[in-house]
Amino acid sequence: MMKRIVVEASASSANLGSGFDVFVIGLNDPRDSIELLALESQESEVNLNYKNGYVIPGIDATAAGAVAKAVTNQFNLKYKIIVTINNRIPIGVGLGSSAASSVATAVAMNRIFDLGLSDEMLLSVAVEGEYAASGARHYDNIAGSLQGGFRIVHQRPLNTVGFPPPLGMTIVVVTPEIKLPNRKTEYARSLLPKQVNLDKMTKNISSATRVVAGFAKGDIAMIGSGLEDSVVEPARKVMIPWFDQVRDSALQVGAAGVFISGAGPSIAAVVDGLKIDPGRVQSAMAKCFADHGISAKGFITTVGGGARIVEEQ
Ligand code: HSE
Repeated sequence: MMKRIVVEASASSANLGSGFDVFVIGLNDPRDSIELLALESQESEVNLNYKNGYVIPGIDATAAGAVAKAVTNQFNLKYKIIVTINNRIPIGVGLGSSAASSVATAVAMNRIFDLGLSDEMLLSVAVEGEYAASGARHYDNIAGSLQGGFRIVHQRPLNTVGFPPPLGMTIVVVTPEIKLPNRKTEYARSLLPKQVNLDKMTKNISSATRVVAGFAKGDIAMIGSGLEDSVVEPARKVMIPWFDQVRDSALQVGAAGVFISGAGPSIAAVVDGLKIDPGRVQSAMAKCFADHGISAKGFITTVGGGARIVEEQ
């Protein structure tokens, strides 16, 4: 007997500056989808394909494959599983592409085998994909990709709290075309300080609590003012030439705040779309990169996303 399911999961922007590994927003676009076929078999087996021809670095090193294998082993499933990823989220630019395929695979396995996994259990399975892709079990992108909206991740015990976005909250994402090391997130995490001084910790708590208060009050300006990060972005911005100038260019045309999306190099600006034209913010950021000889691509989206089952047979 063969079972088939198609699941979509969204891109996400993690950290929001001050909330390293804790804050994330799901994005309404772009989304990855995966098709999962399960055929009864004597053995457990996982095969992986990309619809658009990306090279597969090996099942264990590939997020969706790692998740399918983890679930297969945990539940002793005797099936041949074929996962085909239709990848629309650009890979390795800080938009949670590995999280989206991990989440979509976890949701697909849960549904097709009727495993009854809660959101927390889905997160703890999907994180194996993040571990395969980046060498770290960070839950922020997978929470945004699974649950959507703004999520605050608590790791031990694992759970998340969420807020819907304020009306008009718009996200402008600009991605510079720059060369980055392989396994970029692992590299970006290796740049981080091992210790943080008290002054920086105080500043970050102040910022992060403004982000949360801003979502609770529906205040985009307050969210923007809380994106300032004294710990992670100062260490990582060496990866993104002209980061400060690009951030300033967005603020000058009215962005409420700017942050490195996840481990970068994409930069996300939060804009009150009811007051400011997000297209102007995108153009200002892209022009700033262009003025310094760097091409950049951008798009405009809103906070939302999450995972959903699209087809099942
Ligand atoms: N919180 C993670 C990091 C997100 O910044 O390393 C990676 O996308």
